[in-house]
Amino acid sequence: MRPETGDSRQPVAERAISAELADRVAALMARMSLEDKIAQMALVQAGEGSPIESLGDEIRSGRVGAVLNLVDRDAVNELQRIAIEESALGIPLLFGRDVIHGFQTILPLPLGQAASWNPEVVRAGARVAAQEAARAGVNWTFAPMVDIARDPRWGRVAESLGEDVFLAGHLARAMVAGFQGESLSDPGSIAACAKHFAGYGTSESGRDYATTNIPDNELHNVYLPPFKACIDQGAASLMTSFSDLDGIPASAHSGLLRDVLRDQWAFEGIVVSDWESIPQLSIHGLTADDREAAIAAANAGVELEMASDTYARHLAAAVQSGHVSLATIDTAVARILRLKFELGLFEAPYAQAADDPEAAQQTALQVARKAALQSMVLLVNRNDLLPLDAGRIKKLALIGPLADDAYEQLGTWIFDGDPTLSVSALDGIRELLGGQVEIAHLPVLETSRSRDLADIDAAVAAVHAADATVLFLGEEAILSGEAHSRADIDLPGAQVQLVRRLHAVGKPLIAVILAGRPLTLSNIVDEVDAILYAWHPGSMGGPAIADLLFGIASPSGKLPVTFPRAVGQIPLYYNARNTGKPPLPETVVQIDDIPVRAPQTSFGMSAFHLDVDHTPLFCFGHGLSYTRFEYSNLQVSPAQIRPGESVQISVDLRNCGRRGAEEILQLYVRDPVASITRPVRELKGFERVRVEPGQTVRVEFRLSTDDLKFYNRQRGWVLEPGRFQVWVGGDSNSNLAGEFQLIDA
Ligand code: BGC
Repeated sequence: MRPETGDSRQPVAERAISAELADRVAALMARMSLEDKIAQMALVQAGEGSPIESLGDEIRSGRVGAVLNLVDRDAVNELQRIAIEESALGIPLLFGRDVIHGFQTILPLPLGQAASWNPEVVRAGARVAAQEAARAGVNWTFAPMVDIARDPRWGRVAESLGEDVFLAGHLARAMVAGFQGESLSDPGSIAACAKHFAGYGTSESGRDYATTNIPDNELHNVYLPPFKACIDQGAASLMTSFSDLDGIPASAHSGLLRDVLRDQWAFEGIVVSDWESIPQLSIHGLTADDREAAIAAANAGVELEMASDTYARHLAAAVQSGHVSLATIDTAVARILRLKFELGLFEAPYAQAADDPEAAQQTALQVARKAALQSMVLLVNRNDLLPLDAGRIKKLALIGPLADDAYEQLGTWIFDGDPTLSVSALDGIRELLGGQVEIAHLPVLETSRSRDLADIDAAVAAVHAADATVLFLGEEAILSGEAHSRADIDLPGAQVQLVRRLHAVGKPLIAVILAGRPLTLSNIVDEVDAILYAWHPGSMGGPAIADLLFGIASPSGKLPVTFPRAVGQIPLYYNARNTGKPPLPETVVQIDDIPVRAPQTSFGMSAFHLDVDHTPLFCFGHGLSYTRFEYSNLQVSPAQIRPGESVQISVDLRNCGRRGAEEILQLYVRDPVASITRPVRELKGFERVRVEPGQTVRVEFRLSTDDLKFYNRQRGWVLEPGRFQVWVGGDSNSNLAGEFQLIDA
């Protein structure tokens, strides 16, 4: 029996292939030679200089199926015209681009968007990004990246939706829905691409492109489901990973690309290689040369080759020699052509400018602002230092290299971002406060990496003189993203010294941290009184920071990743398995307490490091608010369910503070005894709810028995009867608990 896979509670948006579409594809293919077909499998880079000159002739002679990295509407339209009017078959082109978190208008990093835990915010962001990109001629984005990321050293954690399979899957669906809209052929819709299939996020020690080792249990229960979620949402394409999974690089991994993707999941969209990942099969050591690499990738089921040309050079001969079947080529080309029909490119091939560019721009900025506001996470707020009361502040000190850097706050992957749209924190705060507050702005460090503290005295004086001080710390955009991994994830440069010198002044300090990853903050967490984690918040980061610092809105983001205390704890993630010797909550060991010359000590003999507390600095799901929420009265009903039934978990959420705010309630589940050991907790539901002061709302979650399934040693999805524990709360440490029994049918 075929194993069941994925999250079956969600309605499946099938990319059903109508008979009419199949007929159109077949009729076109009947007119195509083998060379014409193989040309459709080429995704070619628009090089430097004039694309019309460099690509025009190739397109005219039918040798290109898709173009990458061209975002000039006139050039795109001209190449499209050449393909349609001057090539023999008149097949329109795909134009692909990395539209990762916005196009001209930049949204928070995907990791920041994930901290909003708000699928609607994510959908709306992808929608405006798609609309802006479509106007520039893009009809295919290489997003969302749905690699589960448990290693903050990895630069691409910035581009991920975090460490959790449930959260990432839901938000990835929302992103696909935003890019693709109601229909791929709608104006402003572009095809999505879930990447990188599969396992890329686990590269050893966070070194980009490095080997991955993922046991079947983790692969199926953690790394694959977000891809399945995208497919269920109708994602048009998938991209292979650069990485090697258990000895087979992903671009030749037929176990993933055929057995899982096609046979089990029945995916009918297209699979594209990553950049030159087909010739790289030989660098990995799987194939001897480009010819073998092309054969391996084509046979594994990669339909389009990105940037390199091994298909163009070798596939025709490989078909003639019988190394690749004509059926394989036909299947690939049918899928590619189908997408072109679905995008409506045969009917409406040309990109159009916005009817009202000014209105479109304003809408995009509003969407970016809301996303930025909801993505920021208040990590620390001692003595309720925040929000600041603008009415009581006469002098404000804004210090640090990232207070007024409209570019760096945009983050990685912003090829098309317009830095002139970006509003820095300094400008956002000025705009909010008007002329009523005197602002001293002192970067002290030129960039986040600078070590020169020559200007520190002026900053010390400014802190002395100010009624409030905000430090803008973090990482520049270039320190995260592809091929930008770090082994040390402390604040770079002399920022820690900067914090210490200012802490010594003895006045409260607020830190706003702009970064592309979770940083290790142990060395500043006790030196500041409040920390607002802003990620790289995009174009409207500044106004969002201003609104949160001055209490126009309450912070409502929650961490989509665990923040370790020290880099040596990595990987550290909330949904780990228990081990036979888990540390007890009270396990605290100081390395200095260990007796000298003791042959062995027995500090609990459990799974922790001697030199760092075993807990994270901030747990998954953590995020404070300007109000206080109280959870109570958890009820689980019924107490027993059977397969196919569902259980309702409800809780009271009371706002005990004095301001209205949004809270993200989180539902966690544990299967304490199973045929394979299961995580100590797994997120199975979340809900963003607004509650007014003094108000109590009752929030209900519904768990179906499908939510309790897992992939087991027999390589199938199973539901095992027994006791299940549940917790609801504002983070992954909640101890408001309940339970229910799943009994046999
Ligand atoms: C990245 C992909 C990206 C592609 C095209 C590669 O290096 O891994 O994620 O879509 O380049 O820019």
